[in-house]
Amino acid sequence: MKKAICPGSFDPITNGHLDIIERASKVFNELIVGVVVNPAKKCLFSVDERVAQIKNVVKDLPNVRVEKFSGLLVNLMNKEDARVIVKGLRSVSDFEYEFQMAAMNNKLDPSKETVFMMTKTEYCYISSTSVKQVAMLGGSIKGLVPEEIIPEIIRKFNSK
Ligand code: PNS
Repeated sequence: MKKAICPGSFDPITNGHLDIIERASKVFNELIVGVVVNPAKKCLFSVDERVAQIKNVVKDLPNVRVEKFSGLLVNLMNKEDARVIVKGLRSVSDFEYEFQMAAMNNKLDPSKETVFMMTKTEYCYISSTSVKQVAMLGGSIKGLVPEEIIPEIIRKFNSK
């Protein structure tokens, strides 16, 4: 298969996200990680910080590119000439949200398809939100996010 987009907030990227990106990069010829600029959502990291973190952790995946985007995902897909959205699914509760988003994207542009990959069981309890909560309360986030970004997360909370 050709080009796909893996979109998200990635605030921050977790080992669950990275696993989906690595696996999707083996299925598609080219994978774009789309990092959303969402002014309505208060993020810990700026979009440029998130893009830099992801670029750093995917640097050894030659067919993966990281782009920030604002506005509709389908617009980015049309700009990039991509038809497929790749998302990870952790649980039944993810399914409801993801099902709705997949249907909305397909309504906005029926040429777009969403493909789901099941998160590996060892990562199914990890979310960016829970990682931030653990880090904020001084717990260990080792094994939850890529090693390279652990100091950045700790630094961010220490500076708050
Ligand atoms: O990691 P997240 O926060 O669950 O990612 C959500 C994301 C970025 C995939 C979603 O919010 C999105 O696609 N935003 C762009 C706006 C859009 O296209 N909305 C219509 C589909 S509901």
